[in-house]
Amino acid sequence: MINGEAGVAFIGSGSAQVETALSNDMLSRVVDTSDEWISSRTGIGQRHVANGDESLAVLAAQAAKGAISTANLTPDDIDLIILATSTPDDLFGTACQVQAAIGATRAVAFDLTAACSGFVFGVVTAAQFIRTGTYQNVLVIGADLLSRWVDWEDRTTCVLFGDGAGAVVMQACDRDRLLGFEMHSDGTLNGCLNLAYTAQSVPLVDGVTAQKGTFTAITMNGREVYRFAVSRVPEVLEKTLFHAGLVASDMDWLILHQANQRILDAVAKRLNLPAERVVSNMAKHGNTSAASIPIALDEWVRMGKIQPGHKIAMSGFGAGLTWGAVLLEWGR
Ligand code: ACO
Repeated sequence: MINGEAGVAFIGSGSAQVETALSNDMLSRVVDTSDEWISSRTGIGQRHVANGDESLAVLAAQAAKGAISTANLTPDDIDLIILATSTPDDLFGTACQVQAAIGATRAVAFDLTAACSGFVFGVVTAAQFIRTGTYQNVLVIGADLLSRWVDWEDRTTCVLFGDGAGAVVMQACDRDRLLGFEMHSDGTLNGCLNLAYTAQSVPLVDGVTAQKGTFTAITMNGREVYRFAVSRVPEVLEKTLFHAGLVASDMDWLILHQANQRILDAVAKRLNLPAERVVSNMAKHGNTSAASIPIALDEWVRMGKIQPGHKIAMSGFGAGLTWGAVLLEWGR
């Protein structure tokens, strides 16, 4: 623990995928779809799908270990773990299982749920603890196994989602590399995208009933979410840039939630950013929800494309509805 105010640095990244990849062609043997439809409408070529033995905690721990090791830290250095997920192994939370799995004995750990905005909201939450001087090293993980909750008979949703995990380590430092952020919610649009609990009444005694139910598969009004994304995402990025005294062309990289290539193209066009600065990996992974931004970040770091000092704009958007943006400078 340190005292007083601090800046935030982004010093390590990691990511992990489950082994099994499900190509569009394979999926076209499950539902009435085609590689042509999925590729042209979304840019997705395949997605990874966890089998019955694979867990969110194991995948998240793998990504976390990668981030801690590239940050040149040990698990004992971590003060706080924030696990952004909508698909926990345990509704009471999965972050503590990750803490145990990586041996981060000193860390406090909790889950954060904000669907596909979860990683961005997690980074902003972590920054508050660092800026106030409460914690020095914070691990933020975005991990989701949405394949658990898709309706494999619904071609309008099952082709979109995949499984994965990504993580970053954020550290207290003198010069603040978190250049700006914005977070938003609009619950009036909640019905556009849901993984909802449905209950049945269970009579107990003397007119008292309890409820017993389950979560039903993902439902989405794709057109509404598309419209929301192509208007709100450029807006929130422009606002965040404005407040930071920056313009889009100052950004070396734009990392958007990997939902649909058409959304990425529309946002890049509105910001006047060339395609080569827009990170896209959905062809390999599909939409991995809270994991999509940190996986993309980690892949670009590992390929040597993102270098220390590069400026990155990130934006997450999705269920809630929620959306937000973070501007950062990569590296110590
Ligand atoms: N294969 C073949 N045909 C299909 C498929 C499929 N997988 N899915 C839908 N179709 C058909 C429809 O039935 C429809 O046929 P019809 O014209 O005969 O009725 C036609 O294709 C067009 O359907 P649309 O829904 O209009 O297709 P659209 O071009 O809007 O693309 C999509 C759908 C890809 C879902 C798009 O709307 C989208 O990307 N929306 C945003 C989703 C998103 O960003 N989600 C992010 C948040 S995720 C989170 O928070 C967890």
